Amino acid sequence: MKQQKLAAVVSAMAFSVATMGAARAQDKSVEVVHWWTSGGEAAALKVLKDDVVKRGFHWKDSAVAGGGGDQARTVLRARVAAGNPPDAMQMLGFTVNDYAEEGLLGNVDAVAAKEGWDKVVPAPLQKFSKQQGHWTAVPVNIHRTNWIWANKAIFDELKLTPPKTFDELVAMSGKIRKAGYIPLAHGGQSWQDATIFDSAVLSAGGPKFYKQALIDLDPKALGSKTMEKAFEQMLKLRGMVDTNFSGRDWNLATAMVYHKKAAMQIMGDWAKGEFEKGKMKANVDYLCFQYPGTEGSFLFNADQFGIFKVDAKQAAGQAVFASAVMDKSFQEKFNIVKGSIPARLDVAMDNFDDCGKKSMVDMKQALKDNTMLGSFAHGHAMPDAAKAAAVDVVTKFFNSGKSPADATKQLVAAIANSK
Ligand code: BGC
Repeated sequence: MKQQKLAAVVSAMAFSVATMGAARAQDKSVEVVHWWTSGGEAAALKVLKDDVVKRGFHWKDSAVAGGGGDQARTVLRARVAAGNPPDAMQMLGFTVNDYAEEGLLGNVDAVAAKEGWDKVVPAPLQKFSKQQGHWTAVPVNIHRTNWIWANKAIFDELKLTPPKTFDELVAMSGKIRKAGYIPLAHGGQSWQDATIFDSAVLSAGGPKFYKQALIDLDPKALGSKTMEKAFEQMLKLRGMVDTNFSGRDWNLATAMVYHKKAAMQIMGDWAKGEFEKGKMKANVDYLCFQYPGTEGSFLFNADQFGIFKVDAKQAAGQAVFASAVMDKSFQEKFNIVKGSIPARLDVAMDNFDDCGKKSMVDMKQALKDNTMLGSFAHGHAMPDAAKAAAVDVVTKFFNSGKSPADATKQLVAAIANSK
């Protein structure tokens, strides 16, 4: 099945390679590869596309479906190998570093200097956007992964309030199950398993531990009893899902919360984009709160557009695109629809909902407290090769439910072997 999918992806890719020449020949076009294909994501993308078109450019859409972007990254690799990169590609964290190290990225330094990006983009994002002093990627949003999204009607009916500790979450789930609802909506795809692991590690050990283990890759932290506790949390979360969770897309899991089948989903705030699209309102129809034990920390995942080296004619399109992405009013409109917050610190938050406002307040505090940390699941904690090896361990564990102690040992080995 996986192979069939890959074959389909590769043949779609061959098609897009064949049609590229024509698109490139067009004056004033921008080709962007991305994986924004769910309802909420597509609505947000439309805001971007309309903006670029308004600026007189032709938008060449190259969408590669697949939440979290694994498939899109595979397509990009193949296109780059064939010498045919797009103008820009949606990229997360260390993927920007990889392409920059290979010398494949251009830059939009002139626009960045003119518009003063250095002063407004949070430093943890600049660490990825700027490579060797050059703006090689343009940040469009800041997502957070340590969120729980809950159906408010179920919470009201069962008189539940957001859990303060992991044990409270476990106790609540029993109550939810008894009342005939699924406690946790989850899609068993490796990146979704990894997304809940982000929160489990932070909850089990706090921000310092998260940094030591998943960012500094300290073998002692990776192999510690605290890491075992994170895997124990995963085991308990596994007990909260339904029997059909395998392979389910993340937005279908969000729909289970939306349709009052499941009480909660642990997911980045792109889930909010789905609620918004379905006209559900924050604190009226759904609740947003931090995974218990992670309040005060902000696990970030910022979508950036990596800027590939292209010829001078195309570079003009890239500069317009970059400026459009960083525009203040665009960042406001786009991020309200996407569920994220702006990638710049100077955008007014009045028009955002309560969850969006909380996210910005929390992020500014986390910046001060040094608790704004890169999401492991979404490529902001460790290089992509290490991440792939670690995700493998996490997802195997989640599906087998075997010993947390063994999984911890496997994690240490996987990271060591990936170096
Ligand atoms: C991206 C989001 C996207 C989500 C689900 C994440 O990796 O950063 O923009 O909505 O995947 O596809």
